[in-house]
Amino acid sequence: MTAEQMREMTARLGGQLAWAARLDPPRVPEAGEGLVCGMGGSGIGGDFAGALAELEGRRVSVHKSYGLPGWAPSARPLVVAVSYSGNTEETLSAVAAAREAGLAVVAVTSGGTLGEIAGSEGFPVVVVPGGLQPRAALGYLLGGLLRVLAAAGVIGDPGAALAEAAELATALSGPSGAAEGLARDLAERLDGRIVAVYGSVGLTAPVAQRWKTQINENGKWPAWWAVFPELDHNEIVGWSGRPDLDRRVGIVTLRDDAEPPPIAARFRLTEEVTSESVAWVGEVRAQGSSPLARMISLTAVGDLVSLELARLAGVDPVPVDVIESLKRRLSEES
Ligand code: F6R
Repeated sequence: MTAEQMREMTARLGGQLAWAARLDPPRVPEAGEGLVCGMGGSGIGGDFAGALAELEGRRVSVHKSYGLPGWAPSARPLVVAVSYSGNTEETLSAVAAAREAGLAVVAVTSGGTLGEIAGSEGFPVVVVPGGLQPRAALGYLLGGLLRVLAAAGVIGDPGAALAEAAELATALSGPSGAAEGLARDLAERLDGRIVAVYGSVGLTAPVAQRWKTQINENGKWPAWWAVFPELDHNEIVGWSGRPDLDRRVGIVTLRDDAEPPPIAARFRLTEEVTSESVAWVGEVRAQGSSPLARMISLTAVGDLVSLELARLAGVDPVPVDVIESLKRRLSEES
C-alpha cells in the first residue's frame, strides 16, 4: 500500500459514518452501562463513546488490557468487544473473561477469531467491511459501537449525529477536503518537532489521543497528548528547565466552543505561558453542532495532519511493522 491509498482510506471516514447511520443494529440485551474492550485504533472508539455517553449522564467505560476490570462482574455492564482484525489478544482475553463471568457480550469486528467466537457462541456481532487498517476504520468501528450502545438503551439514538458527522467529515477530509490546506500548514509548523496535543476533559480528550496515535502510526513520528485541567498541574512545569529540549516541541490545542469558561481560560493562559518556551503553539477549533460531529471535525483534521507529517518525513503512512512483529513475537511466546 502507499500514501495515496492511506489518503483514500482516510477520505472514507464520512462514508463509514454514513454506513453506521444506516446500519440496522443486531438485537442486544438491555443494559445500564457499557464496557468497551479494545486496543489501539479499535479501542479509541470506546473513548469517544465514553465522552459522548457522559454528556447524556450515562457511563461507558473503556478497558484496554487483558481480562476485565475488577468491578465488571458485579456491575454487569454490556461488554462490547471492538477489534477490527478480530485477532487482538487482549480483546480476546477480555471476551473470554466476560463469558466466564456470565456477562452479555457484543462484538464489533471485520471477522477473525472474534467473529468466529461470536458465531460459535452465538453472541451478537456487527460485521464491518474488511481490508482496511484498523485506524482507518474509525467511522465503522465507532459508528457500529454507538449503534450497539443505543440498541442496549445505554445511550440515545445517535442516527442524526452520525449523519451530521458523516457530512462534515466528507467535507473536511473527503477527496479534496476543505481541511487539506489547514493540515498542510499545521504539519509544516510541526515539521522536525515533537508534537504534544492538548485536549480538555470531555469531548476533546479522546480526540487529542487520536491525534497522538495517528501521528505515531501514520507519521512514524513521536507525539504525546495531555488534558486540561490536569496538565496545568504538572506538564507546564516541564517547559521550564530544558530549553534545548523544549525548543524541539510543537503544541496543538484542540478547542471546542462549548468548553466551560474556566477551561477556556486555562487554554488561553497556558498557550500564553507555553509559547514562551516551546517552538510553536497553535490551535484547531471544532466545527458542527452535535457533540459527535464536533469530535469528528477535529479528528478529520488530525488524520490529515498525520498524513502530511508522513509526507514530510518521507515515510509510507500505511505499514505498522513494529506493531505487527511485536504481536507475532508475543504470540510465539504464549
Ligand atoms: C493499526 C492500528 C492498531 C490496531 C491495534 C489493535 O492500524 O491502528 O492500533 O488497532 O493493534 O488491533 P485491532 O484493531 O485489529 O484489534
